[in-house]
Amino acid sequence: MKYHKVVITGAQGQLGQALQVQFAKCEVISWDIQDLDICQFEQVRKAIHHIQPDIVVNAAAYTQVDQAETHQEAAYRSNALGPKNLALTTQEIGIPLVHFSTDYVFDGQQSRPYHEFDEPNPLSVYGRSKLAGEREVQKWNPRHFIVRTAWLYHVVGKNFPQTILKLANQKQVRVVNDQFGSPTYCPHLAQAISHLLETDVFGTYHLAGSGGTSWYDFTKALYQARGVQTEILPISTTDYPLPAPRPAYGVLTSLHDPSLQLPPWEEGVRDFSTHWKGTN
Ligand SMILES: NC(=O)c1ccc[n+]([C@@H]2O[C@H](COP(=O)([O-])OP(=O)(O)OC[C@H]3O[C@@H](n4cnc5c(N)ncnc54)[C@H](OP(=O)(O)O)[C@@H]3O)[C@@H](O)[C@H]2O)c1
Repeated sequence: MKYHKVVITGAQGQLGQALQVQFAKCEVISWDIQDLDICQFEQVRKAIHHIQPDIVVNAAAYTQVDQAETHQEAAYRSNALGPKNLALTTQEIGIPLVHFSTDYVFDGQQSRPYHEFDEPNPLSVYGRSKLAGEREVQKWNPRHFIVRTAWLYHVVGKNFPQTILKLANQKQVRVVNDQFGSPTYCPHLAQAISHLLETDVFGTYHLAGSGGTSWYDFTKALYQARGVQTEILPISTTDYPLPAPRPAYGVLTSLHDPSLQLPPWEEGVRDFSTHWKGTN
């Protein structure tokens, strides 16, 4: 890899952990909130100037989508102010910043996959705070990779597959069948990031598991991969009201380099299922 000394922020999150594994051959400095709160500008500046990395990869974020509706300031601090601090600091020392964003910047009104040039229109506080973060990064460091991804999951951390597999001991599970997205297995995304970093083509990228599916069909694939027999009942979004509105359709595609494309989402399910140590 062309970068040798890599700072990862939010390193204990599910994507942060996959990135640490992916960059294991580099000198990796892994920080989570207890080591460095990205909202604190002077701390960020001091820490990064001290380390003098070749690149910063920001996997830190306020990711509690429903809680963000009532904790707006906390969401904007981590998702907009934090990325601004990192962008300012990386720009000062002349290094690139990798930053992650989300399909939730879109309103989900389209019926074809969203590409990088589609117009964002977030529905939730989380989506608006992430869009604000993208804009801060664009404004303060032109040497940026903003990577929009979706429906992240891993064998570590809290995510949909882990929750739905833990519910498999019930007689029946009810799963939303009218929201569509791109499930993305974190190790697949981490691998695509290392390919992206071989280029110097800065900008905004959509990188998510290829193809799209509903939460219902995603569950079916997970249960099938793990040999779970539990009945899955399709329900609609209105049957399962949540505080934050989600885009009904958030499938992502990319108009950039096709070689960066992630494997099909079904392959993510297979790899996850092989590595998941939980019981069901
Ligand atoms: N999860 C998804 O489905 C999804 C979908 C699309 C895009 N994304 C984006 O992908 C990226 C990675 O998401 P993820 O699912 O890996 O998130 P995650 O598992 O929630 O990890 C985020 C990490 O960042 C830490 N953090 C929060 N605020 C921080 C701060 N101010 N300073 C330093 N660290 C902080 C968190 O610590 P605490 O746990 O202590 O708060 C956590 O360890 C984020 O940018 C997210 O918005 C996620």
